[in-house]
Amino acid sequence: MAFEIEYPLGATPLSEEEKEGLIPKHMTHHAELNEWEQLNIYKGEEWAWSRNREILNLAYLKQLHERMFDRTWSWAGTFRHSDKNIGVDWTQISSRIYDLLNDVEYQMEHQSFGMVEIATRFHHRLVFIHPFPNGNGRHSRLMTDLLLHKMGLERFTWGRVNLVNPSDTRNEYIAALQEADRGDYQRLLNFVNS
Ligand SMILES: Nc1ncnc2c1ncn2[C@@H]1O[C@H](COP(=O)(O)OP(=O)(O)O)[C@@H](O)[C@H]1O
Ligand SMILES: [Mg+2]
Repeated sequence: MAFEIEYPLGATPLSEEEKEGLIPKHMTHHAELNEWEQLNIYKGEEWAWSRNREILNLAYLKQLHERMFDRTWSWAGTFRHSDKNIGVDWTQISSRIYDLLNDVEYQMEHQSFGMVEIATRFHHRLVFIHPFPNGNGRHSRLMTDLLLHKMGLERFTWGRVNLVNPSDTRNEYIAALQEADRGDYQRLLNFVNS
């Protein structure tokens, strides 16, 4: 690759193998890759919002990631095959996702929490599993918004900034996720609708 990818605090570095999956070969600057990736994501979002699908479904979860990143990364829609500084052991991903989807179905059926809290907990667990080599934040936030929409609710505002770039808002988001890691969801609940 002709340039080094820069990572904001809390973003997952890619392995060499994953970097080789970069589809556009003509990029010379990181900003170009961001722009390309963003166009890909817009197309994925358009695809997702124009369809009424079952959201809590393993095939859909992968398909959404594929649609968001299919022109950017050859491994779009495919779970990790290596470990990261965040996320579960890669061999556990499928079973952890399976459990998550079942648990959220159960929580909704039994109204274990309000829908906003169910969606917030879903986002936290999905990004904690970190199923994909990259794009987990953006994918799991969109999954959460699609789930809310499916339930007739407004999507979250997520701090109203692009959370991929470093900012105070992103720092607050990461801090809120880390509190959720310790079982306290209040800060994340405040954040998602801020
Ligand atoms: N320390 C952390 N604890 C929990 N989650 C984190 C942490 N750092 C980052 N994350 C989550 O991981 C995401 C970054 O992972 P990544 O796969 O690079 O997604 P994206 O490429 O969409 O930003 C963040 O948006 C956030 O949701
Ligand atoms: Mg990333």
